[in-house]
Amino acid sequence: MEKEIKQLKKDLEQAIAKVNDVKSLNDLRVHYLGKKGKITGLKEMLKELSVEDKKTAGKLFNDFRQEATDLIEEKEINLKRKALDEQLITEKIDPTLGATEIKTGSIHPLDRTIKEVLDLFVSMGYDVVTGPEIESDEYNFARLNLPKDHPARDMQDSLYVATDYLLRTQTSPTQVRTMEENKAKGPIRMIAPGKVYRKDDDDATHSHQFMQIEALVVDENINLGHLKGTLELMVQTLFGKERKIRFRPSYFPFTEPSLEVDVSCFRCDGEGCSFCKESGWLEILGAGMVHPAVLEMSGYDKEKYSGFAFGLGVERLAMLKYGINDIRQFYQNHLHFLELFERIDKEGHK
Ligand code: PHE
Repeated sequence: MEKEIKQLKKDLEQAIAKVNDVKSLNDLRVHYLGKKGKITGLKEMLKELSVEDKKTAGKLFNDFRQEATDLIEEKEINLKRKALDEQLITEKIDPTLGATEIKTGSIHPLDRTIKEVLDLFVSMGYDVVTGPEIESDEYNFARLNLPKDHPARDMQDSLYVATDYLLRTQTSPTQVRTMEENKAKGPIRMIAPGKVYRKDDDDATHSHQFMQIEALVVDENINLGHLKGTLELMVQTLFGKERKIRFRPSYFPFTEPSLEVDVSCFRCDGEGCSFCKESGWLEILGAGMVHPAVLEMSGYDKEKYSGFAFGLGVERLAMLKYGINDIRQFYQNHLHFLELFERIDKEGHK
């Protein structure tokens, strides 16, 4: 037995030395240690030995089998290491190469402005609602107290897509839809952001598509004071605690009285500067008390209920807030413009 083991060990060592790849090594493993392998075959010889001899020979056999296993394993580790070394040499990487820049996005200034306004109104219990951008003549005009031949329809150059259907020129139809949908005809507090469209030539201050935020409050005994308080709070939240507002008389067919609302210029604190065209005030939105005819058309008891509404231009608000002087910048999506807001995300607005 000892003799056989010696011979096999010699054979094995020679065979291992010749092997150059993992696959041949596996074949060799099977050849020696597999079920019908040469080393396994030695076991047969053990059977013929006396009990006494079996003990020593058995130990020899087990030790040798272990040794053979270790030798093969060691070779395998070496082969794998060699392969990896070769791979590292052939597949060179250049650590000096510039990394691919991963751009992080930022919230668009219009979304940012809408979110700020919505957050405030939601905190006061307003419901956020939306309405269709393709609107019927009926909702965009008629139910807002602008019948077909009303001259004020010319105030807003409309884009009709079919007879009686147009791209809404304002978010005010959401007022009507909300009042109509409220079957109980009870109090309403709603805020409605969305896109609107007008037949305008685009320039620094005009866009054929822009965004508005509409607000409507309907309840018993709502008066101008409520409107003023609400707008003051909004303006101070957006532009700082020191801001004041003023009302100027205006005209909208769906409000009576109607108002234009100005905020005291936050650049010069009302002194007068180029930003506010020396007036000390910046116009920010249109508002008014809901016209009784509008309440009535939407099924509300105009004797019991009153309401206020306002509609503000999101682009205008964002332009004022961030000092942007061309409305087209919102829609060109130039990265350098949007990156300004990435910085605001990180550092806060100054
Ligand atoms: N819808 C008006 C506009 O687009 C703004 C407005 C809304 C005025 C609500 C009064 C009340 O100009």
